[in-house]
Amino acid sequence: MSVFNASRLLGKTVLITGASSGIGEATAILFAKGGANVILTARRWDALQNVVVQCAAAHKAAGAQQGGRFVPIVLDVTDKNQIASFLNKVPNELRSIDILVNNAGYVVGVDRVGDLSLENVENMFATNVFGLFALTQLLIKDFKARKTGHIINLGSIAGREPYAGGSIYCATKHAVNAFTGALLRELVDTPIRVTEIQPGMVETEFSVVRFKGDKSAADKVYDGLQPLVAEDIAEEIVWAASRPPHVNLAEVFVLPVNQATATLNYRSPRL
Ligand SMILES: NC(=O)c1ccc[n+]([C@@H]2O[C@H](COP(=O)([O-])OP(=O)(O)OC[C@H]3O[C@@H](n4cnc5c(N)ncnc54)[C@H](OP(=O)(O)O)[C@@H]3O)[C@@H](O)[C@H]2O)c1
Repeated sequence: MSVFNASRLLGKTVLITGASSGIGEATAILFAKGGANVILTARRWDALQNVVVQCAAAHKAAGAQQGGRFVPIVLDVTDKNQIASFLNKVPNELRSIDILVNNAGYVVGVDRVGDLSLENVENMFATNVFGLFALTQLLIKDFKARKTGHIINLGSIAGREPYAGGSIYCATKHAVNAFTGALLRELVDTPIRVTEIQPGMVETEFSVVRFKGDKSAADKVYDGLQPLVAEDIAEEIVWAASRPPHVNLAEVFVLPVNQATATLNYRSPRL
């Protein structure tokens, strides 16, 4: 028996960016289990289709009586034209979106200022900042007209605290934090909810992307401590979305138990 009530998710429609792996994937599957419809977006079509299969299986196994529509749509959040035409690709019956999870994001490299690739700087801002702003802007008018909606943005510990070797990533996540805070204030006289999820270390494809495919460098990030997994963050996202309509979890800061700050953590000595 579940202590908490997740029935508020039944039949809701959720749009998730970056649903092809990691936190976005786990979130799509958990919303599916909770009886929601999910529009899954990312750049990798095959990976999205694979997540759709897992959503359908989770929905079926949970015996959910509502929801169960899982629609994969290729969307590069850095592409203005794809965003402008995005809603045309959403089936009519799912165009009233209830929850937007702005999850797509990444970091590449640990370069110090002076050694940064300006192309990487542009791409990180385009994905982590522009994409999140643009999708929010795309849905907000409809949320206001329908007097409903929930925007859940993936911030980071990097949006609370800058660290050496993360200047651009930290700057993008500070931008997410500022934007989310302004949005929360702008929407204070509406029923629309705004949440920022701020994870610490989560083991996903994130570090593999950061180290340009070098799996052993990525593994070292988590050496000697137990990081969070994508499902831990999915639970926080789905938890925020399933609270009663008068409750807004504005910020959720989630760390592995042996991480205290971006740079302070405890690693067990190897036996
Ligand atoms: N893992 C951590 O330690 C951690 C900590 C704090 C915050 N976060 C944040 O959590 C979010 C999810 O990260 P994750 O850990 O789940 O990493 P991940 O496994 O690498 O997932 C990143 C997702 O973003 C998508 N993406 C990247 N660029 C995109 C673009 N231009 N357009 C559309 N989708 C794009 C990727 O899909 P495609 O490649 O298929 O497009 C992928 O689905 C990010 O915003 C990240 O900054 C992660």
